[in-house]
Amino acid sequence: MKILVLGGDGFCGWPCSLRLSARGHDVVIVDNLSRRSIDEELGCQSLTPIVSLPERLAAWRETSSRSIHFTHLDIAQDYDGLLRLIDAQAPDAIVHFAEQRSAPYSMKSSSHKRYTIDNNVRATHNLLAATVESGRDIHIVHLGTMGVYGYHTPGLQLPEGYVRAQLVDSRGTAVESEILFPTNPGSIYHLTKAQDQLLFAYYAKNDGLRITDLHQGIVWGTQTDETAYDDRLINRFDYDGDYGTVLNRFLVQAALGLPLSVHGTGGQTRAFIHLRDSVRCIELALDHAPMRGDRVAIFNQMTETHRVRDLAAIVARLTGATIAYQANPRNEAESNELEVENASMVGFGLEPTTLSGALLDEVTSIAGRYAHRCDASKVPCLSRWTRESLADPDLNLLATKHGMAA
Ligand SMILES: NC(=O)c1ccc[n+]([C@@H]2O[C@H](COP(=O)([O-])OP(=O)(O)OC[C@H]3O[C@@H](n4cnc5c(N)ncnc54)[C@H](O)[C@@H]3O)[C@@H](O)[C@H]2O)c1
Repeated sequence: MKILVLGGDGFCGWPCSLRLSARGHDVVIVDNLSRRSIDEELGCQSLTPIVSLPERLAAWRETSSRSIHFTHLDIAQDYDGLLRLIDAQAPDAIVHFAEQRSAPYSMKSSSHKRYTIDNNVRATHNLLAATVESGRDIHIVHLGTMGVYGYHTPGLQLPEGYVRAQLVDSRGTAVESEILFPTNPGSIYHLTKAQDQLLFAYYAKNDGLRITDLHQGIVWGTQTDETAYDDRLINRFDYDGDYGTVLNRFLVQAALGLPLSVHGTGGQTRAFIHLRDSVRCIELALDHAPMRGDRVAIFNQMTETHRVRDLAAIVARLTGATIAYQANPRNEAESNELEVENASMVGFGLEPTTLSGALLDEVTSIAGRYAHRCDASKVPCLSRWTRESLADPDLNLLATKHGMAA
């Protein structure tokens, strides 16, 4: 297949591009390199030393004898460029990773909120409008998030996108219906993914676009078989308070001999998936495309759930680190249950990599090996979710300690 990978220089997009190329697909990476500019803005680099995209691509050519092409394009800003690219490349499928993906970054200030909405909603809508205008039958695979559902579930297993519901009319008569599971986004970033979901439903219904939306859990792990071929292919590892996910921050804190910082009670339960499985799920989604006229195919792309304090306990056991509880900058429940259906991907053939099976490798080969590159002052999450939290003395103390204005 000819496949465009939008956001192919990022944490998920890079290993996905390599895997698809290794499987014999003709891959074109499209990226505006905004994630690298955000590294500059935040004054923090990936823990792993990632080289420039042209160097990455040259290393892939050398090690695999296969070529991946690159187009530098902002898909949110340059609609005509995107349409020209689709016309010129005539792809069979487009994998869409190209969005601002950090919840804390999206909550930093009104300018970060506006950037995240503008970038993500426009990027997705431009892609859909350009696909229709091109007149081509392209399978679009989008990376969404489990956070679209919110984390206050009414005691049921989260279904894969759709739920049977009884709607009651004004005469009290119940009407059976199957609807999109109601969204409950917990940040501006998650709100953009909820908007994406409606855009997809509309374009599948109105224009017959073939779309798969993958509601992905938190991705952990750094390397895949392909990124491990050569040091120049190494994948990004974010550990800072904005882009570093909870497990990555625990891993670097342990490697530096710092306590693992748990926000609030640590009773928050989240869904996780290893990077290798995330890449595998995209292959599986490409192999199981919906038909023209089908509704959007929505799959939950996760393999296990963990409470944050249990994750901290696992990392503490593996490394001997201590645990420190801190004020929670997020506006969220202190604890939640999370049960998620993931039958589709397992049915397609996914064999999950578990935390218990693969975490030790991450501790030694990534966090331990590159700990000397870590700037410990970047680890705490200092974004505030609400105006009230700007006055929280515990959060202000944390911000002052790390040299940040409250
Ligand atoms: N990393 C996770 O744990 C996780 C979990 C759930 C869902 N996702 C989703 O997967 C996707 C990829 O996540 P990631 O962790 O690889 O993020 P990332 O920030 O590492 O990668 C995103 C890439 O898209 C590019 N990009 C952003 N806006 C663009 C634009 N307007 N035009 C062109 N390129 C643009 C960036 O430069 C970057 O290379 C995101 O949509 C994210 O919401 C990620």
